Amino acid sequence: MKTNQYDIKDPSLAEVGRQRIDWAAREMLVLKLIRERMAKEKPFKGVRISACLHVTTETANLALTLKDGGASLVVCASNPLSTQDDVAAALVEYGIPTNAIKGEDDKTYYKHINTTLDNKPHLTVDDGADLVTTLHTKRSDLISNVFGGTEETTTGVIRLRSLEKSGKLLYPIIAVNDARTKYLFDNRYGTGQSTMDGITRATNLLWAGKNVVVCGYGWCGHGLALRAKGMGAQVIVTEVDPVRALEAAMDSFRVMPIKSAARIGDIFITVSGDKNVIDLPHLKLMKDGAILANSGHFNVEINIPALESLSTGKKRIRSFVDEYTLKDGRCLYLLGEGRLINLAAAEGHPASVMDMSFADQALCLEYLVKNHDKMGKKVYSVPENIDKRVAALKLKSMGINIDRLTTEQKKYLTSWQEGT
Ligand SMILES: NC(=O)c1ccc[n+]([C@@H]2O[C@H](COP(=O)([O-])OP(=O)(O)OC[C@H]3O[C@@H](n4cnc5c(N)ncnc54)[C@H](O)[C@@H]3O)[C@@H](O)[C@H]2O)c1
Repeated sequence: MKTNQYDIKDPSLAEVGRQRIDWAAREMLVLKLIRERMAKEKPFKGVRISACLHVTTETANLALTLKDGGASLVVCASNPLSTQDDVAAALVEYGIPTNAIKGEDDKTYYKHINTTLDNKPHLTVDDGADLVTTLHTKRSDLISNVFGGTEETTTGVIRLRSLEKSGKLLYPIIAVNDARTKYLFDNRYGTGQSTMDGITRATNLLWAGKNVVVCGYGWCGHGLALRAKGMGAQVIVTEVDPVRALEAAMDSFRVMPIKSAARIGDIFITVSGDKNVIDLPHLKLMKDGAILANSGHFNVEINIPALESLSTGKKRIRSFVDEYTLKDGRCLYLLGEGRLINLAAAEGHPASVMDMSFADQALCLEYLVKNHDKMGKKVYSVPENIDKRVAALKLKSMGINIDRLTTEQKKYLTSWQEGT
């Protein structure tokens, strides 16, 4: 039942998509090396892969790597708003069936996930765990074929760990998100820069002097707060974890509960992976004109039904900007329908960081092909040697050399005898 089916917006966009995929490839030198090797060694020969990822130029480079490595690959979007329609068209032209249309409704989004699963995958690649959840709940008849999977992002890993804990995870999945070469760079620098880019493109506002509230000080929050500060904003951080809140305070940011920040903020950005972080009581306190954006997960971090319940009307005043007029006369502005703003209004992470995340993806998928029979139905960390290999290759691609431990140092660092 291998699928050749695809559903994209406009096949004539393929040429533009191809050019942009090539442009991204210039910054993805680690993946390029892996692609060249895989094209020779064909580690995915005879392997069917179903991938649910943001359909961007960087993802296209991963998809081409897997295809050159011999995989029979089908792709769908991991977010209804993040698809780049020209990239989807180019992927189809490259012979990779793709099911993704920017702005697709929820019904089409799940239809596309199901078509992608019709590929009867041996391996799944997911970003947020919607594909894996659909497979485990509605398409469990296909699970006997699957021997492994990877998960790209924080929230997906949380969902999978919960599936594992309930004893219901049915095959091994590697949490690519937890590789140091992923979260330290992709979540921090990638989300930091591209979220600022998405909000800037959507609104064209000036950051300098604005009160920017960052909800969640994980790796995404670290990057975002740093970038907002760099643009001249006064940054406020809200947290629930005392250690991270302390870190934010010592990183020079104001830290307070969202209820206090709600009265002060000009721009609110959620990056917590949590639900209703901005909720009804907070919306009631916000200043007229406050802007709300999410770069964390799905569209649940800002309580949109609560915003609707407070409003008398909603108007799209620019692309990706909805003006909500509240019963008391204030207006609040929701960007990108509360979905990941860096992917909705900009182009997602820059290729250079995705180079590392997707190098991890390609190497972890290869690892699963080779090692799945020794693995259990668990969520696994990325093997340390893959993480280090990706970092070493990235440094090499940047022309940076580093020191090596001397024999004396190696001995010193592994012994207990030497003191002061
Ligand atoms: N936009 C993107 O392209 C992109 C990229 C990477 C990750 N993500 C998503 O961003 C989210 C955050 O990722 P991360 O790696 O920073 O995760 P993380 O787990 O390192 O950090 C999340 C932080 O949010 C805090 N938090 C939870 N509930 C909160 C609440 N009610 N109020 C304030 N803070 C709260 C947690 O204590 C934690 O410190 C995840 O959903 C992840 O999937 C998005």
